Amino acid sequence: MAYSADLRLRSPSAQMLALPWERRLEDWDDTVADLREMKVGPSRHLVRFVQADGRLWAIKQLPQRVAHKEYTVLRDLEARNLPAVRAVGLVQQPEQGNALLVTRYLERSWQFRRLLLRLPPNRPRQRARLLDAMAGLLVDLHRSGVYWGDCSLANTLFSRDGQRLQAWLVDAETSEVHRTLSPGQRAQDLEIMVENVAGGLLDLAVMLDRPEEIYDQLVQEATEVAPRYESLWQLLHEEPLFGFDDRLEVQLRIRRLNELGFAVEEVDLAPAGSGDDRLRLRVGVAARSYHAGELFELAGIRVGEGQARELLADLQSFQATHPELTSERDPVAGGSLPAPSVQRWIETVLRPGMSRAYESIGRIGDPVQAYCDLLEVRWLLSEQQGRDVGDAVALEALASRSQPTDSAAMAVVAEADTVTMERPTREQVDAASRRGLAAQIDV
Ligand SMILES: Nc1ncnc2c1ncn2[C@@H]1O[C@H](COP(=O)(O)OP(=O)(O)O)[C@@H](O)[C@H]1O
Ligand SMILES: [Mg+2]
Repeated sequence: MAYSADLRLRSPSAQMLALPWERRLEDWDDTVADLREMKVGPSRHLVRFVQADGRLWAIKQLPQRVAHKEYTVLRDLEARNLPAVRAVGLVQQPEQGNALLVTRYLERSWQFRRLLLRLPPNRPRQRARLLDAMAGLLVDLHRSGVYWGDCSLANTLFSRDGQRLQAWLVDAETSEVHRTLSPGQRAQDLEIMVENVAGGLLDLAVMLDRPEEIYDQLVQEATEVAPRYESLWQLLHEEPLFGFDDRLEVQLRIRRLNELGFAVEEVDLAPAGSGDDRLRLRVGVAARSYHAGELFELAGIRVGEGQARELLADLQSFQATHPELTSERDPVAGGSLPAPSVQRWIETVLRPGMSRAYESIGRIGDPVQAYCDLLEVRWLLSEQQGRDVGDAVALEALASRSQPTDSAAMAVVAEADTVTMERPTREQVDAASRRGLAAQIDV
C-alpha cells in the first residue's frame, strides 16, 4: 500500500528529505535511514534517533492532533528562548492517523536515570541538584506563561553547567502557552511536578532494589521541590517597600539576584502611595545569564551561566595574584580586546587547564566543563586536606574517577556513554521494530 505524507521541515536538506517519511516509524530500518540506537526512559510514544546532515535528530511518532499542538508549543518556547528541545519538523501521515515530530537531538544531555544509575546508592546531594534544576526550569517556564502540565523526571533532560545542572523540557504534549499564568495554574503545575518526581524516584528505587527505608526520604525530597520553586518565584516577584535612605538595601537585593545568575534589566522605585512615604521596588529580571554576560564582555568567551560563574571566580583569583597585569593598559586594543590580565589568564591558565582536564576525564563532555570539574575537585580536595592540593592531584582524581562522590564533577559518569553513538546492530533494529510502541528502558 502506498502512503503519502505531508511534510513540514525547517531545514529541508537532501538527506532529511530522503528519509522514509511516508512509513510508520517502527518500519524504518538501516537500509533507509542512518538510525542510532539510544536508550530512553519511560515514554508513551515510539522515539527513534536518526543521523542526517552530520547531526542527530529525535523522531517521535504520535497521533496527528497532539503532534501539531506539541510542534506549535515547542516553536513558541524557542521564540521565548526557553530551555526546551527544538522542533524542526512535523510530518503528517493522514492514512495512518499518525504524525512524526522531529526535534534536534539535545547534545550532551541525559535522562536522570543515567545519573542516578551510575552513582553509588543514595546520594541526596546529587538528587538535590536534579531537583533544583527542575524547580528552576518550572519557574522559567511559568515566568513566560508556559503551563507544562506533565513535568516529570522522564520528560526532562539534564545537561551540565558548571556545578549546576540545566534542566530542559523535552515533552510538551500537554503544555499550553498563555499570556500569564494564574496562581492556581502555577500551583497545579507544581503539584503535578511533585507527584511525578516522587513517582519517578520511587520507580527507579524499586527497579534498583534500593532498601524500602529510603522511600520516605525520596518522597520527602520530591516534596521539597515546591519550597525551592516558591522561594525562587518569590525572590523574582516580590515588591518590597524601602525607605528612601535604604537604597543600599536595593543594591543588596540586586546583588543577590545577580549571584543567582539573574541579570537585572530594570529597577523601578516608585512611591508606595496612600500615605506611605516608602518606595516600592520592582525589579525587571531577564534570563539567567548574568555571569555568562559578564564573562563574554570581559573575555569574549560564550559558555553556560554556571560555567561562567566558575570561570569568573578563577579569573578573579588569577588577577588578584597578578596585580602587575591589572594595572597595565592595553596598548593596541583600546577596549575592543580583552584586557592584558584577561588575555594572560586565557593563554596561561584557561587554555592549558581545559585541555589537561579534558584529557584526564577521557574527552567526555566539553573542555570548558572539564575545566570547571577540575576547579571544583581541586577545591574540594584542598578543603578536605586543609591545604592546596594543586592541579596534578585533582587531575589524577578525575582520571581515576575518584572525585568526591557528592561533587558536581561526579556527574561526568552520566555523560560517559553519550559520546559514542554506535550504529545499531541488525538484531537491535529488528527488536525495536518488534517492540513497536513499547518503551525502551534505560537499565
Ligand atoms: N530532542 C531530543 N534529544 C534527546 N533526547 C530526546 C529528544 N526527544 C526525545 N528524547 C528522548 O526520548 C524520550 C521520550 O520523549 P518524549 O517526548 O517524552 O516522548 P513521550 O511523549 O513518548 O513521553 C525522552 O525522555 C528523551 O530521553
Ligand atoms: Mg514523555
